[in-house]
Amino acid sequence: MRATFEATPNIAVVKYWGKRDEKLILPTEGSLSFTMDETLKTRTTVVYSKKFKADSFWLNGQKIDLSDKETAERLQLLDVIRRKAGIQDKAHIASLNCFPTAAGFASSAAGLAALSCAASMAAGLKLNPRETSMLARLGSGSACRSVLGGFVEWKKGVKADGSDSFAEQVAPATHWPEIRNVIAVVDATKKKVSSRAGMKQTVATSQLYKARLAYLPGLIHDMKKAVLAKDFETFGELTMRESSNMHAVMLDTWPPILYLNDHSKDVMHAVNEFNANGIQAAYTFDAGPNAHVYTTKNQAGAVQKMLEEIPGVTETLVCGVGNGPKRLETGHLLDESGNVIPHAFNQSKGIVFT
Ligand code: DP6
Repeated sequence: MRATFEATPNIAVVKYWGKRDEKLILPTEGSLSFTMDETLKTRTTVVYSKKFKADSFWLNGQKIDLSDKETAERLQLLDVIRRKAGIQDKAHIASLNCFPTAAGFASSAAGLAALSCAASMAAGLKLNPRETSMLARLGSGSACRSVLGGFVEWKKGVKADGSDSFAEQVAPATHWPEIRNVIAVVDATKKKVSSRAGMKQTVATSQLYKARLAYLPGLIHDMKKAVLAKDFETFGELTMRESSNMHAVMLDTWPPILYLNDHSKDVMHAVNEFNANGIQAAYTFDAGPNAHVYTTKNQAGAVQKMLEEIPGVTETLVCGVGNGPKRLETGHLLDESGNVIPHAFNQSKGIVFT
């Protein structure tokens, strides 16, 4: 009844921003992303036992308060797993973010993907990727895409019970292995408006949101076509325009939501200048000011240098495309009785057990 998995974040090029069902986390539209390689990853161990009185969760070695409403909502997938497995045992969960910098990278997708894999395996369930994706979705929408590697589509689905809303691989990581994401950190602090609260407000108030919903199905079709054809020029233009479209509806939300800062705008200008003779780099911004600049392997060094020269960019990091979650047989964060094996992430040594 113990399992350990590692999962990695994904960065969308057609973004999810709005729910049609807030409890089941069903989106208003589909989305597309690349799952990142292990430059950024989260390791999670889950143990179930009849001896545990309550679920317990340690994040980066710190015990987390599970009475918090949002945390409880995100962990609803544990009850779904128990129901499916026919068990009532409580769980101990330990999760460690292995990110090489202190910057505020989005970690919920990697964390909840690793949790869905580890928690279902430890409960004795043998789920297919589709079922695991639906579990991850209950924790955080974008996490359903991190259950698969390569280029991934989250299908919005139409059913009220969410049984047709899951992620599917469009192409494996080997399809376009040259793709890189150069991350430029301009602000490492936690965002003021969470994605969950922000997208709810957008759906409720933005006038432009209707236009976005009308634009997305065609965009998803065109983006898949560009990636399958490895047409970077088209992929890049669609990616940048989509990022701006999402940030436009955020600004059109009332009260307005502004995730980009002046440094983000400097990145946009610098990338556009870099692309003067054809698109070789494409920025995209999630619910925060840090830039994800997609490019290809032979341009990654030049893109990184260009980003590092922008005043306000404090760190850069180059990620490739990854294969999705993997199960580990060693390196568990909990012993078989569910006690925490003291651990930490060290920038130069990786995960260390103390
Ligand atoms: C801008 O998946 O974090 O990164 O489902 O409420 O947990 P919840 O939201 P979340 O939203 C991610 C928003 C985004 C776009 C994307 O990744 O598609």
